[in-house]
Amino acid sequence: MANISTRFFGLDLKSPVIAASSSMTGHAEQVVKLAEAGAGAIVLKSIFEEEIFSELQEELALRTGLNSDPEYLDYFDYVIKEDTLRKYLHLISDVKAKTTVPIVASINCVSSSEWTLFARKIEEAGADALELNMFVTPSDVTKTSETGESFYLEAIQKVLQVVKIPVTVKISHYFSNLAGMVKKMSETGIAGITIFNRFYNPDIDIQSETVVVSDVLSTQHDYLLPLKWTGILSGQIKIDLSATSGIHSAETAIKFLLSGASSVQVASVIYHEGPSAITRMNQGISDWMDQKGYKTIADFKGSLSHSASSAQAWERTQFMKYFGEKTF
Ligand SMILES: Cc1cc2nc3c(=O)[nH]c(=O)nc-3n(C[C@H](O)[C@H](O)[C@H](O)COP(=O)(O)O)c2cc1C
Repeated sequence: MANISTRFFGLDLKSPVIAASSSMTGHAEQVVKLAEAGAGAIVLKSIFEEEIFSELQEELALRTGLNSDPEYLDYFDYVIKEDTLRKYLHLISDVKAKTTVPIVASINCVSSSEWTLFARKIEEAGADALELNMFVTPSDVTKTSETGESFYLEAIQKVLQVVKIPVTVKISHYFSNLAGMVKKMSETGIAGITIFNRFYNPDIDIQSETVVVSDVLSTQHDYLLPLKWTGILSGQIKIDLSATSGIHSAETAIKFLLSGASSVQVASVIYHEGPSAITRMNQGISDWMDQKGYKTIADFKGSLSHSASSAQAWERTQFMKYFGEKTF
């Protein structure tokens, strides 16, 4: 049987299929099941600075008029943060005691000052690595792209200064110079980059004429954007890439490995199918490698990346040659 071990998060993983951060990785029993199903690593649900902030707002709303002294409010901010952090640290130590699979903590902060406190405590609790789930919606028309980019680079630097465990960064594709930004991040000292996080997008109900919640889960066709950028970026940066979004099958996972990813991170397929989706994907990757005569992932990883194959194929964006061929 083929050896499907790989490397990501600066760690050796038994499989390139990683359970991505989601609400399913926020409970110890589920993490154990994902590990038993053969996940190469498990990224715990992110601890969200925004969530802590909204809890604080609720608490304040309840207490409106009772006490609005700034010091009192600061105290509540502190208590809620401590409580959220305490539960998260407990989750880390609990799953570390129950399984040997690498456990990756994930933090999402919107102000870079909070990252270091969370990161340090997470390392102390025993996480094997830390993924920074970074995203600031670039919706402020008065801000320059440099402001947004410096937020990412500063936050990464601050975290790297306070922890020794490997740090990776999970990003979106919303950068004005995506390739240049990935290159800059790859040179900071992080161990890897995960592309691209999937976000909740609102939709519109035309009957009620309201903004509504769209489908949260991906479909098996949503993988082409991260595939394209894995192909373009993998040969041009020196650190490992992991891919996420729309990866539901071994076949799609293999496409990412061929394009240069070291691993894939899956969430929606686990929501649809349960942890056995990971077992199925591991088996499919192994069967394909046997059929092709590949003994290790290194034998084929990146063989179809931008630098290994035709750069033109990865960079083509226009439908040029398809125009005018359709007759009615
Ligand atoms: C319900 C749900 C919750 C998620 N929560 C997080 C999270 O806390 N942190 C994070 O970095 N990504 C989160 N994600 C994104 C996933 O980790 C994953 O990157 C994304 O869904 C794309 O993979 P998929 O197409 O396999 O779902 C979440 C996704 C879903 C569907």
